[in-house]
Amino acid sequence: MKTWLITGCSSGFGRRLALAAARRGDRVVATARTVEAIREMALPFEGRMIAVPLDVTDSASARAAVERAVEAFGTLDILVNNAGYGFFGAIEEASPEEYRPMFEVNVFGLVETIRAALPVLRRGGGTIVNMSSSAGIAGHGGGGYYNAAKFAVEGLSEALADEVRPFGVRVVIVEPGPFRTEFLGRSIAMAAQEMPEYAASSRRRYRETNDGHQAGDPDKAVTVILRAVDADEPPLHLPLGPVAHGIAERKLAAFRKDIDTWRDVSINTDFDRP
Ligand SMILES: NC(=O)c1ccc[n+]([C@@H]2O[C@H](COP(=O)([O-])OP(=O)(O)OC[C@H]3O[C@@H](n4cnc5c(N)ncnc54)[C@H](OP(=O)(O)O)[C@@H]3O)[C@@H](O)[C@H]2O)c1
Repeated sequence: MKTWLITGCSSGFGRRLALAAARRGDRVVATARTVEAIREMALPFEGRMIAVPLDVTDSASARAAVERAVEAFGTLDILVNNAGYGFFGAIEEASPEEYRPMFEVNVFGLVETIRAALPVLRRGGGTIVNMSSSAGIAGHGGGGYYNAAKFAVEGLSEALADEVRPFGVRVVIVEPGPFRTEFLGRSIAMAAQEMPEYAASSRRRYRETNDGHQAGDPDKAVTVILRAVDADEPPLHLPLGPVAHGIAERKLAAFRKDIDTWRDVSINTDFDRP
């Protein structure tokens, strides 16, 4: 029986993961910034699921949630940093007032939750699951700030995996393509300024035409995440769904091509040997 702490359980992946973990008999600290949104979900699992407030932009609430986990269940085995939202707009269109709050949630919120949980996870080992995105694999016009935030999650997670391996803590970076959650509905912000110069790369229409029609089934995503967490050797990178896989394949091929094409020139940069 494992003990989970999951951020952003009011809807989407977080809610489904909390329910799936509890249904199979694990213990779950389900968290949300508005705890009323998850109280009812926890009721049928009395003694095994608790609903705890956690706004990831408030590091004190992250520390308090970890304390509640230890108080209630004695330990913590799996931390899932799922809370997040998207932000679309060309780099030139967006203002700091728009893009900085997204970094506070998607990057610094995840950082502070990890920092709160590590002292407990280091004691007995465990798993940290960080929700990145296919947007954390490759950048695309119209979503650059979201790309930057999820790339930050990827870099931090890779370094973290290295640092915590000696303590038996594993890190899994989940990279979903489009899945039918509330992400493209209420969890995406748009730059207020719309510049016609960037019409070609704009993602505004993408949201309108794709919300509610994403091919990805979040329940199937949760099944894969559970399988990865249960594995003896979980993957560090877990692209989810065919779109994410395609993006990963194209990124690897393009990276390979650049490295190979420029190898002879780019490699000769050390001081000449005497
Ligand atoms: N669905 C996709 O296509 C997709 C693809 C790639 C990556 N992702 C990632 O998957 C994660 C979950 O998104 P989702 O698809 O499940 O969308 P969702 O259904 O909209 O869920 C987003 C969750 O994040 C929570 N949240 C936002 N800001 C928060 C904060 N400051 N503190 C605590 N919780 C906060 C929301 O809570 P409130 O109810 O309080 O707003 C909500 O529970 C995100 O990190 C997202 O970037 C999603």
